[in-house]
Amino acid sequence: MSTAKQRKGNQNRSLDLTECDRDRLRTRLKSINLLTPDLRDETIQADCFAIVSLLPERFVDLLILDPPYNLTKNFNGFKFERRTVESYTEWLNAAIVEFKPLLKPTASIYICGDWLSSASIFTVASTHFIVRNRITWEREKGRGAKTNWKNSSEDIWFCTVSNEYTFNVEAVKQRRRVIAPYRTQDGTPKDWQVTEQGKFRDTHPSNFWSDITIPFWSMPENTAHPTQKSEKSIAKLILASSNPGDLVFDPFLGSGTTSVVAKKLGRHYLGIEQNEEYCLLTERRLELAETDPKIQGFSDGVFWERNTLAIQQKLQ
Ligand SMILES: C[S@@+](CC[C@H](N)C(=O)[O-])C[C@H]1O[C@@H](n2cnc3c(N)ncnc32)[C@H](O)[C@@H]1O
Repeated sequence: MSTAKQRKGNQNRSLDLTECDRDRLRTRLKSINLLTPDLRDETIQADCFAIVSLLPERFVDLLILDPPYNLTKNFNGFKFERRTVESYTEWLNAAIVEFKPLLKPTASIYICGDWLSSASIFTVASTHFIVRNRITWEREKGRGAKTNWKNSSEDIWFCTVSNEYTFNVEAVKQRRRVIAPYRTQDGTPKDWQVTEQGKFRDTHPSNFWSDITIPFWSMPENTAHPTQKSEKSIAKLILASSNPGDLVFDPFLGSGTTSVVAKKLGRHYLGIEQNEEYCLLTERRLELAETDPKIQGFSDGVFWERNTLAIQQKLQ
């Protein structure tokens, strides 16, 4: 084995399930015939379209939709095929029509996509909701292309049902290193603080996120899911657009990031995922969250720039 591979082997912190984990966690999954009206803090293994009509109306405070993008992708045996923009728009519209009755009038909705899916997302979202913004986040990982620009960004569309909605801006401030440390005439720092770790400013969050790291093998949140979102990105959505005790719903749950982050931040959650293995990964992550509620990149009540883990650890 090469030294690089050995090093990776030693430092690999990705989450794997044993057969013993699978047997234990399988008993926790909810199936269609076990749904009750007061459903919360559960993972439902099902096709979300098949069960959505069984869920109560107006129970969701925050809907996070991270559907398959308009790409051909194999989700552990469940294949999603790339289709025309018109056909993807129709598919997404059918999903939103199903989920809309579950939303409270004060609910917020976030919809994830890449540049191509975004064309459909805006069309559909603006038919049903008030579209408030499009967040673009820089995606460091990605294959270079020979005849095109490399894809290194994704979007998250921010929508609300009405003009009455939650937005906790103070909860999602970004801590940045100060490059130009201006001082006022009497010499005091202007809008920044000097700490033992350096000079920092806590800034208002913008709709461009350059601080997101896609989960990879040295991060404990990493699983085998092919399109897992980082806990940090979902934490921003949940902190900004819900309050403790609210219910966060994700019908395309994948490896469970939304539920796990909701739990870590004191929100209720409900997630649906068609694939048993991903549901089991979710349950294992929920179990681990009980003893380790940390979210990488979020500490001291602020979101940190990339590559500041060593500084954050000194603060803990
Ligand atoms: C983009 S991934 C979500 C990733 C997730 N945000 C995470 O952090 O792991 C979309 C997920 O939706 C699931 N999915 C696709 N169609 C579904 C359906 N009809 N019902 C339930 N789950 C579905 C796929 O299996 C896949 O895991």
